[in-house]
Amino acid sequence: MCGIVGYVGTREAEAILVDGLKRLEYRGYDSAGVAIEGPHGIEVVCRMGKVASLEETLSALDVEGTCGIGHTRWATHGKPSEANAHPPPSCGNEIALVHNGIVENFAELRDELEACGHVFRSQTDSEVIAHLVEDAYLQLAERAAERDALSDAQGHRRPHDEAARRAEGEPSILLQAVHAATSRLVGSFGLAVVCESEPGLIVATRKDSPLVVGMASDGAHMASDVIAMIDHTRDVCIMEDGVFAELSKDGIMFFEPAGDGLRTASPRHTHIDWDADLTEKGGYPDFMLKEIHEQPRVIRDTLAGRLVGDELTIDELSLTREELNLIDRVYIIACGTSYHAGLIAKNLIETWAQIPTEVEVASEFRYRNPIITPTTLVVAVSQSGETADTIAAIRDARIKGARVFGITNVVGSTVARESVGVIYTKANKEIAVASTKSFLGQVVSLTLLSMLLAQSKGKLTTGQIRLLFSELADTAEQVEAILADASSVEEAALACRDAKSALFVGRGMGAAVANEGALKLKEISYLHAEAYPAGEMKHGPIALIEDGFPVIAIATNSPTYEKVLSNLQECKARGALVVAVASEGDAEIRRHADHVIYVPAVRDAFSAITASVPLQLLARSIAILRGCDVDQPRNLAKSVTVE
Ligand code: AGP
Repeated sequence: MCGIVGYVGTREAEAILVDGLKRLEYRGYDSAGVAIEGPHGIEVVCRMGKVASLEETLSALDVEGTCGIGHTRWATHGKPSEANAHPPPSCGNEIALVHNGIVENFAELRDELEACGHVFRSQTDSEVIAHLVEDAYLQLAERAAERDALSDAQGHRRPHDEAARRAEGEPSILLQAVHAATSRLVGSFGLAVVCESEPGLIVATRKDSPLVVGMASDGAHMASDVIAMIDHTRDVCIMEDGVFAELSKDGIMFFEPAGDGLRTASPRHTHIDWDADLTEKGGYPDFMLKEIHEQPRVIRDTLAGRLVGDELTIDELSLTREELNLIDRVYIIACGTSYHAGLIAKNLIETWAQIPTEVEVASEFRYRNPIITPTTLVVAVSQSGETADTIAAIRDARIKGARVFGITNVVGSTVARESVGVIYTKANKEIAVASTKSFLGQVVSLTLLSMLLAQSKGKLTTGQIRLLFSELADTAEQVEAILADASSVEEAALACRDAKSALFVGRGMGAAVANEGALKLKEISYLHAEAYPAGEMKHGPIALIEDGFPVIAIATNSPTYEKVLSNLQECKARGALVVAVASEGDAEIRRHADHVIYVPAVRDAFSAITASVPLQLLARSIAILRGCDVDQPRNLAKSVTVE
């Protein structure tokens, strides 16, 4: 996934674009580039690496101009390099564009364009869009010139008047060219395009990749994510697929396809009421630690107002108690950490509501043939709400007749808009690539859903609901206690820092948590880690155990605690370095583990909340000891908006 920004107005564009790109670096940071309309045409500057490298180059060049676009890249086609950085080149260099997404039919388009004489200079799929726009622009401009010549000859030539064009709601030639070019694309795109022949204009459009535009006092702004423009304006339009925006210093015009042409459109605007400081570290050394420490608030905010009297209220689901009661199968579809939240929910739904629940990796679900009936509940879980695999799986499930409900952290995201009901996790903006607070928000939201299903089925009494809700609310304070003293985590991290690989093991809820612990460690410390149900060790993985091999166990109080203990004894007997997450008051575990990280004792159903937090801290500490960037790990992006 990449990040794109654009600005046109009364101020110099360079600083605005660079600041916006820095806010979007969580989306990708292989390379960055800008195109700024200057006195001598469009100036394109690209650099490998993070935005800071581009900023340094720009400050030396002193690029002038009040209209420009920018891009920070997570490579899909073409390795990270300056040549593959955006804006990609076109033949005449008159068009510049930035693209977030993937052009699935780029190979055939490239062949077609090369056959027409276009010369490609990058390995990216995005470059085909630049050449397509260039082609369409030249054709449309020629046609317009012919029309003007004819009007001249007939004596009623109207001087080209940009103000008149805009007043009449006529799309610019550039917008028409972008419309023509994007109609050839298969895949996804968030696009911003500028053109030397039409200075002071940015054309933006999207399909399956997020794009936000908004007017501020200093001009028009656009970005892949509102976080990049929130300092300039809070009144924005979260663009829908197929809508085109034409930004100028005087305003933003919107168009939508009408037959073969385009007509003006009036899309809905949204007011963003976030606190601006959400995008700052707030005194923490990194966003990941800040967000880990926000988790008690996330728990409280996600639970706020959810129990009214004795009634659990999740009105967003827009399902009656009768409809909930008829549900006889649940599918939870997600990716990565969100998938692990689903594994936790499976335990809860099947235990409390006794409804068969399957948790599916979205990229698999969509190619399977799941059994979906009108009484099947499909829940899509996605922090960003823009994960391509999850969106594709949602669309597939809906084609198969399912009613899909979303659990997401981003208001107005694609998952939110394509679900019949949505629960927001109230985690606020999550900047670090590794999901932490949004994960806990998902777990709490899914716990509420599990309780609601059980209550609707008459499997949990009002008194039981009240008790469970109260204990669930207590986890906020329990997480605060864990965060207050992380010394045992630091000791365990030191012991694991030079390992080459690690095993995470647990049973039941602990097995689900083990999956999340392994992902956290590998994605930010690059230390290979995998999770196994503890009972599986004897069926192969125990062969990995040798002196000092780290086995990280979730050994909190549970019906299978004794079994986990015997698994740890088998590992210990073979020289493993055992790190155990255990319940306060458990003295026995000390005989079987080299390091014990105690967490407050809670019922097994809520142990995923308390056990996940030390594993987040452990992953972060090991990553820091290994010199890794915990907020922007290599090769990753915050949301994978390409398949
Ligand atoms: C988790 O730390 C990763 N950031 C990644 O696995 C993420 O959970 C996954 O890509 C799904 O993203 P989503 O929740 O935005 O759909």
